[in-house]
Amino acid sequence: MKLYNLIFLATFIFLCSAETSAQTPSITLHVDKATATVSPKLYGLMTEEINHSYDGGLYAELIRNRIFKDNKNTPEGWSLVQDDTAAKASIKLIAASEERIPLDERGNAINGALSTCLRLTVEKAAGKVGIANEGYWGIPVKPSATYKASFYIKGTDRSEPFRWPWEPKPNTPPLPDIENNTAGPITVSIESNDGKTVYASGTINLEKSIYWKKYELTLTTAADVQPTKDARFVISTNRTGLYYFNLVSLFPSTYNNRSNGNRTDLMQMLVDMKPKFLRFPGGNFLEGPLITDAFPWKTTLGSLENRPGHKGSWGYRASDGMGLLEFLEWTEDMGAEPVLALYAGYSLGTDHVDAGVLLKPYVDDALDEIEYVIGDTTTYWGAKRAVDGHPEPFKLKYVEIGNEDWFDRSNSYSGRFNQFRAAIEAKYSQLTCISTIPATQYPSMKVTGKEPDVVDEHYYRDSWDMWENASQYDTYNRSGPKIFVGEWATREGAPTTNMNASLGDAACMTGMERNSDLVIMSCYAPLFVNVNTATATAPKAWQWDSDLIGYDALNSYGSPSYYVQKIFSHYLGDKIVSATVENIPVQSAPLTKEDSTKNIKSKSVPTIFYSATMNDTTGTIYLKVVNTISKKQTIKINLDGVTKVSPEATVVVIKGDKPDDTNTLSNPQKIIPVVTSVKGIEKSFQQSFAPYSVTVMQIQAK
Ligand code: AHR
Repeated sequence: MKLYNLIFLATFIFLCSAETSAQTPSITLHVDKATATVSPKLYGLMTEEINHSYDGGLYAELIRNRIFKDNKNTPEGWSLVQDDTAAKASIKLIAASEERIPLDERGNAINGALSTCLRLTVEKAAGKVGIANEGYWGIPVKPSATYKASFYIKGTDRSEPFRWPWEPKPNTPPLPDIENNTAGPITVSIESNDGKTVYASGTINLEKSIYWKKYELTLTTAADVQPTKDARFVISTNRTGLYYFNLVSLFPSTYNNRSNGNRTDLMQMLVDMKPKFLRFPGGNFLEGPLITDAFPWKTTLGSLENRPGHKGSWGYRASDGMGLLEFLEWTEDMGAEPVLALYAGYSLGTDHVDAGVLLKPYVDDALDEIEYVIGDTTTYWGAKRAVDGHPEPFKLKYVEIGNEDWFDRSNSYSGRFNQFRAAIEAKYSQLTCISTIPATQYPSMKVTGKEPDVVDEHYYRDSWDMWENASQYDTYNRSGPKIFVGEWATREGAPTTNMNASLGDAACMTGMERNSDLVIMSCYAPLFVNVNTATATAPKAWQWDSDLIGYDALNSYGSPSYYVQKIFSHYLGDKIVSATVENIPVQSAPLTKEDSTKNIKSKSVPTIFYSATMNDTTGTIYLKVVNTISKKQTIKINLDGVTKVSPEATVVVIKGDKPDDTNTLSNPQKIIPVVTSVKGIEKSFQQSFAPYSVTVMQIQAK
């Protein structure tokens, strides 16, 4: 290496090295000047049906494609079970094309929602014959587990259906007549995929009737069963006939024992985050690809029998088992409040509905939806909510008008927002309407007339961008709208984020926290990811890399970002403690080839990020420090304006050995918060912060 190269390298290393910085960095907390209030709703959650967040995720239903509408061409998730080759049997999707149902398939709808079903034809019986569901990448089997199984079934014979003389006969040769031998025991089981091990089993007694009937039973596994997800759900017979199935459901126990409820492990992880609100139902899931695909809240209410599901926005159909009431009850179970996103006449395919008479039905629909949430039981929709099982109105303060309407290049948002806001404020003056277009990001599309009280900013960045922008709110105009950061994340790592991403997140959150007089709410996105890759029968489960919480059918884990969210939410005061910093080392973002050709200069970003809040009543100071580099950094911390400091502080640290360290299903706790205590805390003291770490110090002062 030439001498000048060596000199350049040495200089570069020197500049990048925080430890070699000439003077010790310092953070001085002005504890006596802590007057600005931390937003009581600063940390919440955002959710939508993406990455199998509900179907195959939080929503505890274990049967994939339970009403057979997921795919018009094939009974996705279902297969024929046939133990004995001497048997003659087949399965067929019936009435899958709702637009044109063949004559032979008519008469099989249970109602308008349950109009597609699965037929098992047993022409010749021998051994066990049935239908199997593979679940969402497996059916979870755990020791001493209880499952509620239910399904609609009817059994018939096979004979030529009545045809008018002018009606054509089908081209395919009809099956021979099959005797209706269907009445009698039907076996229901959870078993290994090869059928050799039965983990739980029971029977129902199928009555002889040509009409649909719902059967229910409970299945229980043995105490010594080994947990597995290599299992399937089977309904089987040993008799001839035509068996029709619909709304096949299997629920394990759920959080708070809610019927049609949520998975317990995932709920616990959310509750542990102490979220103050839940933003739902999207995200893109609110809007749908076309106007007709928007979240159909009215058909997500009531019994599952009345829920047809809908297209969804992320390439798979939504069962809508997670309906409006389930979202609200989920929010309630976490001790949080809803932030209800209302469909506002713009969908992802770029179609929009103009403000005025065309938009009026959408505004009315939103008013109905709000009434369902907060109307008392004398109102039409409040009464419906009571019938659905929740007479008490829910709490609601914020409604959001649309989602990411900056994608709507028609410039229609201002008119649409104003029409929604006028109608909502006229009926519900206590509600605040959030605009999805922040003027700071999209000045040409902003809402005109009366300024929105709150705007929703979204950003998905890499860690360098997060570090560069972590102080963005320090200089924001305080006389404009309040900020709701309704979606944000550092996108590094897949399917869940890595340590480096969590350092980007933590830096960003220190900025929100320092400015939480302005940033009143924030929520990371996406929240959930089913981490299964494609199998022979099911596609890859996720559509979006870098998510917060990962799981399969059996287990779940938090990403490093999850733990950062958790400790930021846990250790939070009610007053913002302002601070002065000195000598914070910086590092330079690497330049790409393209940057160099465009002569773009490398930006330098701090290597330490911080925020401090205090509990006004107890005097506890929560100092958060993020060290983004590979070296330990020592910081001098001064507590200005305190008279007494407890010599011992509790320290919570999340750290990694390298930026791409992460948690996985097989190593779920590689990066988790570790709590210790440190001594020697005084009005001025030095503290070391580990490489690649996020630290919360709880200092007791007066
Ligand atoms: O969080 C994933 C998607 O990102 C959301 O659905 C959408 O609002 C945003 O563009």
